[in-house]
Amino acid sequence: MQKVRIKTRAEIEKMQQSGQAAAIVLQRIAETITPGVSTAELDCVARETIAALKATSSFLGYHFPGHTPYPSTICASVNDVVIHGIPNETQLLREGDIIGIDTAVSLRGYHGDNAFTFPVGNISPSAKRLLSATKASLYAAISAAKPGNRIGDVSFQLQHVAESAGFSVLQNFSGHGIGRHLHEEPNVPCMGTPGRGLRLKPGMVLAIEAMVNAGLPDVELLADGWTVTTTDGTLSALFEHTVAVLSDGPEILTGSTIWTE
Ligand code: MF3
Ligand code: CO
Repeated sequence: MQKVRIKTRAEIEKMQQSGQAAAIVLQRIAETITPGVSTAELDCVARETIAALKATSSFLGYHFPGHTPYPSTICASVNDVVIHGIPNETQLLREGDIIGIDTAVSLRGYHGDNAFTFPVGNISPSAKRLLSATKASLYAAISAAKPGNRIGDVSFQLQHVAESAGFSVLQNFSGHGIGRHLHEEPNVPCMGTPGRGLRLKPGMVLAIEAMVNAGLPDVELLADGWTVTTTDGTLSALFEHTVAVLSDGPEILTGSTIWTE
């Protein structure tokens, strides 16, 4: 296994800046989301905001082994799309949709990564419950991201909060360490056992991702090689923060007002 990179205080300060840049991009997109807007327009807002921040998209051209390079700036995952939805000019948002936006930037050598699932206008009560449970599962996991705890404690919270609300978590995709690279060790799965896994130390920085399906946990990969959907067609939600594990507890690096409204 590759080694987990511990960040110095100076590196954490740089990651506070890249985290804030990623948060600003998500905030701009939040302001743009309304019925009738295309997911390609959201991608355009992200591209312009990232350029104005003198940052670069961490996703555009990203190469996962066995995949074509990722073609867009953001991932836009509508309704039953779980993750990695590719923005498209012909895909217009409709009242009642939910849309997961995942956006990461690189600024002065460090990445910040965050995601939020937004309601488009009025959404059904069951969709609201999915969004609030998924967000709650992320925050429970963040609270567990403190020195002395283990990855299993973080992952268990993601799973426990989501499943207690009657939903299921993704089995094949994980959050991740983050720093000079978008994806670093360790993996942060959405399911786990308390007391198991790597012990957390001050200076670790984790992109914790709550990925929750309303129905079954099973997913499918579409022919574009990226888009992941629920097999049963039910809704899926995603919330993600970049979090520094500090000696006095977790610090969210990608916070903004969209999380508190
Ligand atoms: N936040 C996701 C992740 O960290 C999104 C990856 S999109 C990709 O895996 F383009 F980078 F693949
Ligand atoms: Co991520």
